[in-house]
Amino acid sequence: MDFTKCRRVRGEINIPGDKSISHRAVMFGALAEGTTEVSHFLKSADCLSTISCFRKMGIEIENGGGILRIQGKGLHGLTAPQGILNAGNSGTTTRLISGILAGQPFTSRLTGDASVCRRPMDRIITPLTEMGAAIYSDQGNGCAPLTLHGRPLKGIHYHSPVASAQVKSCVLLAGLYADTPVSVTEPALSRNHTELMLTSFGASVTSKGNTATILPDPSLTGQRVDVPGDISSAAFFIAAALLVPGSELLIRHVGVNPTRDGFLRVIEAMGGSVGKLNVSTQAGEPTADLLIRSSSLHGTVIEGAMIPTLIDEIPILAVLAAYAEGKTVIRDAAELKVKESNRLDIMVRSLAAMGADITGTEDGMVIRGGNPLHGAVIDSHLDHRIAMAFAIAALAADGITAVVQAECVDISYPGFYDDLQKVTEP
Ligand code: S3P
Repeated sequence: MDFTKCRRVRGEINIPGDKSISHRAVMFGALAEGTTEVSHFLKSADCLSTISCFRKMGIEIENGGGILRIQGKGLHGLTAPQGILNAGNSGTTTRLISGILAGQPFTSRLTGDASVCRRPMDRIITPLTEMGAAIYSDQGNGCAPLTLHGRPLKGIHYHSPVASAQVKSCVLLAGLYADTPVSVTEPALSRNHTELMLTSFGASVTSKGNTATILPDPSLTGQRVDVPGDISSAAFFIAAALLVPGSELLIRHVGVNPTRDGFLRVIEAMGGSVGKLNVSTQAGEPTADLLIRSSSLHGTVIEGAMIPTLIDEIPILAVLAAYAEGKTVIRDAAELKVKESNRLDIMVRSLAAMGADITGTEDGMVIRGGNPLHGAVIDSHLDHRIAMAFAIAALAADGITAVVQAECVDISYPGFYDDLQKVTEP
């Protein structure tokens, strides 16, 4: 798909629902007693993979009138899946569901697409095994496909070597089926949607610093969940409006949970203008309307505890840094190598192909911004965030940027290109 420079970004836009929150609403709804009703659910390929896995375990899920309804069967109501569970491209589905499967009284098998089957699962196999689970990588390479023989689980205090909400959530979910409380301490705080949403469903979850603790065997009750717009999707439109001169864009009802809003803090540090309007909070999740005006940006340093709060926004931050004046350093971001693709490597190579002065490092990149960028052929590597990042990079570059396999945006944002067309003036 081809993209070119645009004159201005104008108007108002509603961003699709948050991916992390949508996955969790299905999972926790399935484990609760009664009906869970989800509005603004993200109907993207990843979240549909989660739905398909729970349907295979006997959960009725239907979609009508813009509301997703999950008929929960309680903590002990799942049935042995008919056939292998398929998480598609979704690391969140694979890792979170493994925590649930580890404590079931049945055996299940779990796989995904080629990307998921390359991603490290030893990071969940290790703590689940410590809890007494029988979870095996079928190929013995620490990756999916996985076989899980459900077992009674033991409580542990797990010190995770990585700041990962997927690992933390996996262990906390296994904790629902443990004999004693389960704690997870991570090196920096990752997104806390699991802690917030499980609490609203009736679980006892406490958080202190970088440690979350869950008590076993709660009784969960179905809830109404209103999913805020996904800040990770909004980030592409925020970047577009910042980059293209003369732009002004209003994005409504975006989730601005402080464990997710590092992108906004970095934009501010780079001199970007993003106003927050109508701030409100539901079930612990803050939301706001965001008003973005084009701004001249300058370089910054992105590192440390901030990284987990903007982990999915690093590709689009690298694009912004390439257009910003001066040097941007991104470090402590080695996790990016094990996302849907090796995002460090691909961002460095692809921005360089557009003329950016960019060097990859062990755990990040150094970008000397301000060079004019030109169009290039960019392979998305079937990574939705790479495709979207370069569709935006093209809006301020000379010539044509051709994104190969651009349709992979359906993983997190079906309708991305239509929305982009609506707010950009050619
Ligand atoms: C997610 C956590 C993050 C993020 C992913 C969604 C989640 O992964 O990159 O897109 O919903 O928990 P890690 O926690 O493994 O960094």
